[in-house]
Amino acid sequence: MGDVVPAPWGAYFVTGFDACSQVLRGRDWLAPDFAWQERQAHTERWEAPATREMTKTLSRLNAPEHTCQRRSLGNLFDRSTIQRLTPHVERDVSRLLAELAGELRGGSADFAEIVSEQLPISTVGSWLGIPPEDYPGILEITHNQVYAQELLPTKSQLGVSADATVLLRTYFTDLIRQRRAAPGNDVLSGWIRTWDSLEPDREAADETLYRLTMFVTIASLETTATLLSAVVWQLLREPGRWSWLRERPEHIEAAIEEALRYDPPIHINTRVAATDTELAGVPIAKDTMVHVMYGAANHDPRRNADPHSFDILRAGNHLTFGGGAHYCLGAALARLETRTMLTQLLRRFPTLRALSPPEHAARMVFRRVTSLRVTI
Ligand code: HEM
Repeated sequence: MGDVVPAPWGAYFVTGFDACSQVLRGRDWLAPDFAWQERQAHTERWEAPATREMTKTLSRLNAPEHTCQRRSLGNLFDRSTIQRLTPHVERDVSRLLAELAGELRGGSADFAEIVSEQLPISTVGSWLGIPPEDYPGILEITHNQVYAQELLPTKSQLGVSADATVLLRTYFTDLIRQRRAAPGNDVLSGWIRTWDSLEPDREAADETLYRLTMFVTIASLETTATLLSAVVWQLLREPGRWSWLRERPEHIEAAIEEALRYDPPIHINTRVAATDTELAGVPIAKDTMVHVMYGAANHDPRRNADPHSFDILRAGNHLTFGGGAHYCLGAALARLETRTMLTQLLRRFPTLRALSPPEHAARMVFRRVTSLRVTI
């Protein structure tokens, strides 16, 4: 239908790889921040509490606030941090795969529930020092909150999201309060020290800390969980692929990149025109929304030939972690978790089979896999 396709609500879908990349990286495009939201006609969507709250998180800020907050986090998963986290992730994967093995002795198991859902919270939870008993609650709130980030949420979805938003605020505000009372050598205590030096007003510092900690946590969960299930499904759906990779583990990273390209966990991201501009020949007025379609971009045949075939050795291109100033801060961690999981899974379950295709939540922006039944 073209690189830039009008949407019925006055926005545009951006489908081509280069056009999407231009929006993510170009100066003419901004995140739809709070100031932009305030300029929109008064609709329930923009006034909904969950939407207003999300609009103040890192991914919806623009410079200079975005630059300052992003810098305050530093390079979250640099090489030495990834090295330090690796044994923890390996232990978590072993534990979860032992659970999977136990369940499989009964005949079949839900890979999405036992492994994909649990590994990201366990990884990020131990990194941030969140008590394990809180993991189930955080997962539930995150699944409910995410509706506010959908393209066209219904009124009832916004209601569910609003309740989840309140719970997230309470949880992460408490977490920061507790960490302030007992600071240590951990990541969160480091952020607290940074913000105390940047922001003289303690209340304002805590507000920013709540938003950053909450957002980093929720950004890391469903996304990684979906990737874990997606890569396993892509490898199991075609006869012979599983054993091919098992015999050639040196291609595990390539298989993960191809799964990221083929089936991105986030399908849509929205930006707005900073000024009257043009995209792929289409004039776009200041403040107009454009929806970057990651999945479509990754399947653009001008960038990845024969895009609908899953080809581990294609060395293709993808925009699955975004691009430019907002490029995903957790890409290295998501890759670590997926690599570790896949390495152990291939070794431990040579005859793994999928009983049916994965089931997805009925959403457009965040492709959550709710179930992937497997057997041996
Ligand atoms: C497969 C897993 C993941 C996918 C597909 C993914 C995807 C994305 C995408 C598309 C963006 C927006 C980029 C843009 O606007 O250009 C983003 C931003 C972000 N991601 Fe991820 N992500 C994943 C995992 C993670 C993890 C594990 C973490 C943290 C531990 C994380 C933290 C963030 C943060 C904090 C941002 C906001 C960055 C900013 O606005 O400056 N993500 N991610």
